[in-house]
Amino acid sequence: PPTTTSASKPTDAPINIIMIGMAGSGKTTLMQRINAYLHERKTPPYVLNLDPAVSKLPFQANIDIRDTVDYKQVMKEYNLGPNGGILTSLNLFTTKLDQVMQIVDKRAGDNKYFLYDTPGQIEIFTWSASGSIITNTLAATYPTVVVYVVDTPRTASPTTFMSNMMYACSILYKTQLPFLLAFNKTDVISHEFAVSWMNDFEAFQQALRGQEEGFMNSLMNSMSLVLDEFYNHLRVVGVSAMTGQGLDEFFEKIDEAVKEYYEEY
Ligand code: GTP
Repeated sequence: PPTTTSASKPTDAPINIIMIGMAGSGKTTLMQRINAYLHERKTPPYVLNLDPAVSKLPFQANIDIRDTVDYKQVMKEYNLGPNGGILTSLNLFTTKLDQVMQIVDKRAGDNKYFLYDTPGQIEIFTWSASGSIITNTLAATYPTVVVYVVDTPRTASPTTFMSNMMYACSILYKTQLPFLLAFNKTDVISHEFAVSWMNDFEAFQQALRGQEEGFMNSLMNSMSLVLDEFYNHLRVVGVSAMTGQGLDEFFEKIDEAVKEYYEEY
């Protein structure tokens, strides 16, 4: 549980939102949209960019990993490829995390939401020591919600959907933090199919039947049974980073997740 005194005042306490999602899922665009949304509501967020390899950010980050580590220089200096470069940059940034947290702490009175954008190569953040250190430090300071952003149009086939949900499930178990699944790009396709597959096991089985044969089919059947348990504890929202639709519900779900988190401790 968070260690600060603000933990006893759930309604006033700042909330960390960590955005995680596969490359191209629309994390950065969603961050930009959320940023604009919160500015319009006169509750500007404090924004931190943890992606050292992003070339251009469409929003102004208050703290940017690129200000302290030059990812291309790190690659050259340590003779690394792109993934090693991102990982080492994240490690170097983590050595300064205490300073970052001091700044965050100072801003906690003025900002309710702290938004963290992470590298598109999800595993670099979710499965690295520095990713764990950052996540655990945030969660020990303020209530922290992990938002897993899904590229809805690209996950509309049952097999892709299930792979993506398995991935989301692994991140939930790895971080063990309040979790929100944000189906993005609902301006292109509604996320209703996903909600129906999650709520109705038979509907998903039906969709599967039309797809795969033999071994794959029976493997998918078994895996979907496992996922059924995961869905029961999941918060889901459909959003469009492009149009802004769904953001009211997005923040309702974030607040719900935080409330539940307080009730548990
Ligand atoms: P990485 O930086 O590689 O990790 O990608 P990302 O997850 O940050 O995705 P990004 O925000 O760069 O968006 C990827 C593409 O999807 C871009 O072409 C966006 O314009 C598009 N996109 C993002 N959100 C939406 C959305 O809600 N609707 C539509 N139609 N397109 C979107």
